[in-house]
Amino acid sequence: MKTTITMCLITAVAALGISCADNREFLPGEVWLDENGVAINAHGGGMLYHDGRYYWFGEHKTEGEGGNRANVGVHCYSSRNLHDWRDEGIALAVDAEGSGSPIEKGCILERPKVIYNKQTDKFVMWFHLELKDRGYSAAMSGVAVSDNITGPYKFLNAGRVNAGKWPLNVSDETRQAAEAIAAGREAEVADNDRFLVRDFAVGQMARDMTLFVDDDGKAYHIYASEENQTLQIAELTDDYTAHSGRYVRAFVGRSMEAPAIFKHDGKYYLMMSGCTGWAPNAARSAVADAVMGEWTELGNPCIGDDADKTFHSQSTYMLPVAGRKDTFIYMGDRWKPENAIDGRYIWLPVTLEDGRFTLTWQPSWKL
Ligand code: DGJ
Repeated sequence: MKTTITMCLITAVAALGISCADNREFLPGEVWLDENGVAINAHGGGMLYHDGRYYWFGEHKTEGEGGNRANVGVHCYSSRNLHDWRDEGIALAVDAEGSGSPIEKGCILERPKVIYNKQTDKFVMWFHLELKDRGYSAAMSGVAVSDNITGPYKFLNAGRVNAGKWPLNVSDETRQAAEAIAAGREAEVADNDRFLVRDFAVGQMARDMTLFVDDDGKAYHIYASEENQTLQIAELTDDYTAHSGRYVRAFVGRSMEAPAIFKHDGKYYLMMSGCTGWAPNAARSAVADAVMGEWTELGNPCIGDDADKTFHSQSTYMLPVAGRKDTFIYMGDRWKPENAIDGRYIWLPVTLEDGRFTLTWQPSWKL
């Protein structure tokens, strides 16, 4: 009888997404190996849960300082339990060096995220793209699609965002700033409006980014824009492969990057960082009743030692654990710019309390 009950429980829990055998520890900051015993190489990543498996997409880094450039592409791993990771290979490969492709080897391709479109039955990947040998000046977004979750993904195009469109929450002052710039009176333009207006015609900058699909199937691209001064949240078209033209500015002039979002009990929560390159800084958090805001800042969600450095990490994704209502995992990167491939993964449980979320450092923890 006892055995039968235990078996039933195991079956039930397994059906919810995480099996009983996964009572293993997460070890943030240690080297995490895949099923072949090779260190997982999926930085700045995101996760897609599909048909009972988690698919982890991230930047494939290489050794040394040059390893932060895209020499290989976007790596994909999959797991049923968030512990045993199968190497699914390179989901999106960079094109040959010298090919002139926007995603040629040596470009910067960061923070890839993949979402599934039920209507088209396609997987859509977006990423931050910087053209080869142009530093971080291009500030573009790239998009690729595949019929199979693990790829290969076909690169569609890359560019700036929402050219010729004002944000839904544009102020009269900002519109006047556009007139002032057109009339050569740049000095009159407020610092916070300068880049939005400058890029109106060519499209908005988009660097660090994430994607979010809401319960109604609408998808959003959330990205550091306006020279990283202001975050923008843009709706995607129904097939998720382009921007619809509807977008808002959020946290104007607050200089945030590394956005990661989750939804809980009808509220939307964002985690972000400040802008200090590869060096960690104090994280920020915010809450809203709708993806497009209004957003209210909640302060640094990290608590305890090294909270002012986000435990030496930077947010990349907030993972809802399948089948567990209130369970989310913070996914962050501990960058190693001098040897990019050795960057580590900092995953921590998210605590939800009193209308906000918090993170506390734990050298090891279990779900
Ligand atoms: C911080 C960003 O979050 C990273 O993705 C990367 O772009 C670095 N800056 C580059 O300095």
